[in-house]
Amino acid sequence: MMRGSFISFEGGEGAGKSTQIRRLADRLTAAGFDVVLTREPGGSPGAESIRELLVNGDADRWSPVTETLLMYAARRDHLERVIRPALDRGAMVLCDRFADSTRAYQGAGGDAPASLIAALEDHVLAGSIPDLTLIFDIPATIGLDRAASRGGAARFESKGLDFHERLRAGFLAIAQKEPERCAVIDANGTPDLVFESVWDVVSTRLSL
Ligand code: TMP
Repeated sequence: MMRGSFISFEGGEGAGKSTQIRRLADRLTAAGFDVVLTREPGGSPGAESIRELLVNGDADRWSPVTETLLMYAARRDHLERVIRPALDRGAMVLCDRFADSTRAYQGAGGDAPASLIAALEDHVLAGSIPDLTLIFDIPATIGLDRAASRGGAARFESKGLDFHERLRAGFLAIAQKEPERCAVIDANGTPDLVFESVWDVVSTRLSL
């Protein structure tokens, strides 16, 4: 059996990636693919329990290093129980956030050392890296406005504009450093227009 494909969706708050990932899942399912739509932090029962600790409470409930460790505990469980088994059976795994969110939120936005994050990527991901990462880019002020009108996981949204500008720059730096894996999607358009870009990138890069 051929290994499946692993696609991660990344970006700041209110970039519309959750809408887009559902649309992509529908399009791929209609085309006959075995699609697993999942998210981080979370995606497995244990990781969803850790998510509750991460997304609720005061903005400074955890330090960036503690957050990094919790994110990676959740990620390892999700990889072992959901992502790797799905890839092994040939599924298309669509993940709403993955390791780049830790680089951006805890690393660029917070002050978790890049060396710690790199070591965790080496040892915990152990080669389970997305084949394609879509980075949804939108000015931080617009994204935060959209996120506020939608409600939802508030802990990270309440960290202030400065933090969100740093993480936007962090995501763009990842895309620049790893252009073979990453594609930047301009998320500041209508859902239909944004989905056209998503489909264009996915179908081209994965030769669908
Ligand atoms: P969500 O709102 O996209 O479901 O994500 C939950 C929050 O968790 C979001 O504000 C981003 C944050 N997050 C991190 O800070 N680091 C990570 O590694 C991940 C996966 C998410």
